[in-house]
Amino acid sequence: MPGSIRFAIIGCGGITLQNHLPGLALCPEARLTALCDTDAATLERARQQTGVATVSTDYRDIVQRDDVDAVIIATPNFTHAPIALEAFAHGKHVLCEKPLALNLTEARAMARAADQAKVRHMTAFTYRFVPAMRYLVHRVRQGDLGQPYHYRSCRLQDWGTRGLGWRQVKKLAGSGELGDMLSHRIDFAHLLVGPISRLVAQLAQWHPVRGAQPNDLDDWVAILASFHSGATGVLESSKLASGRNESWRSLDYVEINGSEGSFVFRTGEWDRLQMGRTGGPGLETITVPEEFWKLPGSPRDPRQGDPLVTFRYDQMWEFVDAIRNQRPCVPDFHDGTRAQAVMDAALRSAESKQWVDLPLDS
Ligand SMILES: NC(=O)c1ccc[n+]([C@@H]2O[C@H](COP(=O)([O-])OP(=O)(O)OC[C@H]3O[C@@H](n4cnc5c(N)ncnc54)[C@H](O)[C@@H]3O)[C@@H](O)[C@H]2O)c1
Repeated sequence: MPGSIRFAIIGCGGITLQNHLPGLALCPEARLTALCDTDAATLERARQQTGVATVSTDYRDIVQRDDVDAVIIATPNFTHAPIALEAFAHGKHVLCEKPLALNLTEARAMARAADQAKVRHMTAFTYRFVPAMRYLVHRVRQGDLGQPYHYRSCRLQDWGTRGLGWRQVKKLAGSGELGDMLSHRIDFAHLLVGPISRLVAQLAQWHPVRGAQPNDLDDWVAILASFHSGATGVLESSKLASGRNESWRSLDYVEINGSEGSFVFRTGEWDRLQMGRTGGPGLETITVPEEFWKLPGSPRDPRQGDPLVTFRYDQMWEFVDAIRNQRPCVPDFHDGTRAQAVMDAALRSAESKQWVDLPLDS
């Protein structure tokens, strides 16, 4: 029924404006009934933009409301766990931004609480919704990669020395480039090749001051990994790839090689992949069939708007559809927790300068 699922948004900053408000607008069943932000000016701007009457600077006022069925958590990382736990305690469905938590202990507690509350839970690994990534997963699952040999991802942006606000403070963000950018590519690795069995990692920082404020987090991270399948992985992500630009105008590259062939994915090429067959002449461009341009059933018209922006709105449709059909969200808090286990292991490895094992149930 139109407007039958009532949503609250906690955190009305960048990602809410960019992804969550247009995503909700796409879903006829969804109705925004409450807003929260600790910053009064941000809250007022969101109130004016949405016309939502119920607003608060305290998330506790919002998540306990009877006219809220589902909560979107779009706040800095250190607040994800307390807000999610409070929302689950009140029986609300939760879509939480990535990285799910500050660390694995928190993420596990969140996933456990989600299961116990028997509600829908989703981690916002937005780049799973790029049509080319959805098609790549399809091709891998139908066997076109064969036995996976190598997973390789490279995320290169040019953020220079500018200030990053809470993103440059360890106690607020947990990690820097690792959680902010590499978390998505760790999730790609899980999606395409399965769980990581062991890794060694390195983190580096060039700018202890950003925007005249201290930065105590990584600008660059790399992980060398083995998967339980036997495949190998190399993952790198940097804020300091000068001249590479930012966001989807910069490099977001994934390559997988297997016994049957190879595939190359780039976020900027939403409707294309490159593919090579074992023993073949080299990589060729393949187009993503139209049936993969949006999630099945999504009301989004993939021909409207910038396709490098609008694929993100399918994330909210996935959440709403899972609530409506009482089915698990893809990806859920367990996917978020698996990525968090890899991030924790990477931090431990970088600190100890040792390989770290990741048992299958981590
Ligand atoms: N999925 C993606 O692709 C993607 C992209 C960008 C950001 N993110 C994630 O989204 C989250 C938010 O990032 P952002 O870029 O929107 O940050 P932001 O700083 O632009 O916005 C965060 C907002 O939360 C508010 N806030 C802080 N603490 C709060 C609290 N306790 N209760 C209510 N509001 C509070 C702030 O005032 C701010 O308005 C982060 O976890 C980030 O990693 C995900």
